[in-house]
Amino acid sequence: MLSTIGAWAEIIWLLTSKDRVKMVHEYHQALSVNAMRREGWFDYMRMPQTVEDLMDHFGYTDFPYLMKFLDAFVHDGILIRENGTYRTNGPIAEYPINPPDIFNAGILQVHADALNAVPNRLKGVYTTFSDEMNTFNWDDTLQLKMYDKIRKAAFRFTDALKRSGTFLDVGCGNGVGTAAIWGYYYKKGVFTSNNPVKIYGLEYDPNLMQIADAEFAISASRLLGVDRSVIDALKEHHPVFVQGNAEELPFEDEFFDMVYTSQVLHWCDAKKATQDILRVLKPGGLFFGTEAFYPILDPHIELFILLNEGAYGAIKKEDFFQWAKEAGASTAKSATPAGVFKVVKN
Ligand SMILES: C[S@@+](CC[C@H](N)C(=O)[O-])C[C@H]1O[C@@H](n2cnc3c(N)ncnc32)[C@H](O)[C@@H]1O
Repeated sequence: MLSTIGAWAEIIWLLTSKDRVKMVHEYHQALSVNAMRREGWFDYMRMPQTVEDLMDHFGYTDFPYLMKFLDAFVHDGILIRENGTYRTNGPIAEYPINPPDIFNAGILQVHADALNAVPNRLKGVYTTFSDEMNTFNWDDTLQLKMYDKIRKAAFRFTDALKRSGTFLDVGCGNGVGTAAIWGYYYKKGVFTSNNPVKIYGLEYDPNLMQIADAEFAISASRLLGVDRSVIDALKEHHPVFVQGNAEELPFEDEFFDMVYTSQVLHWCDAKKATQDILRVLKPGGLFFGTEAFYPILDPHIELFILLNEGAYGAIKKEDFFQWAKEAGASTAKSATPAGVFKVVKN
């Protein structure tokens, strides 16, 4: 109960303006509408068209992805679905783009660039995480306060800071979150104790992984407000960054005491990743983190996530818990719209 209240306390600022969730939705919706307007969708759908018409006319090959797009537009009342056809209810003007106040320049550019990749994706051409969605914009994006808050919420939801041993951050991106986690343990004096924590960061994207490795000491010193020499002196305790895939973790069975992941499962095959995370976890080990479980993940955000080869998209919490239990978890709990979760292995 206290852990749930703690997690809520971290994320409540995200919800303090009741318009914030709406603003995020309208911003992503405007990007989607403008992208498909440029593609010629709404002129073509002045007359009712079937999915097959759309696929033939635009040369699309990916039926499930097209259906997700159409469903999102129908849900928002932008398209009308009637007798197996889709049409507009009149001309559709360019939507105004109003960036939400919680976003920074990096994430705005990531989202804008991602939408340019949609026509190709509908033709079956995927992108990779930082291909269309430029690595350096992700580096900026991951500095956002919202990532910091949801990470803190995940730690408050669990007893992770009371544990020690080996710790893996799956999908650590530019490592700024890993550096923050290292800082939580540093503040507890763990690195000068007899029972330290050894942190590993695993990232799929080689550019982000290199940034994580190269900038760890700078990030840790900035986040902790301590001189760089203090961080350098603890070199043997610095995280080890590894390039790899969440679905096939390059670690032995039962190697980790804790595995953490934040906003990563929807980018990969979540079932395989869950199974492999449970494989590398020791009995009694803790798997925790954050995931925007279905239906919290905005459908328009899911559309840009699905641009990525191998992305699973929005995950149902019940499915996630089921996969974890089948892979050996004894308990699985979650809380808050940030989707903080904790899973303990038998
Ligand atoms: C939204 S970012 C979150 C980064 C970090 N966890 C944080 O909270 O700051 C998602 C990250 O997952 C990584 N990712 C995507 N697919 C992956 C996979 N199959 N295996 C490992 N990492 C993956 C991306 O490259 C990206 O760095």
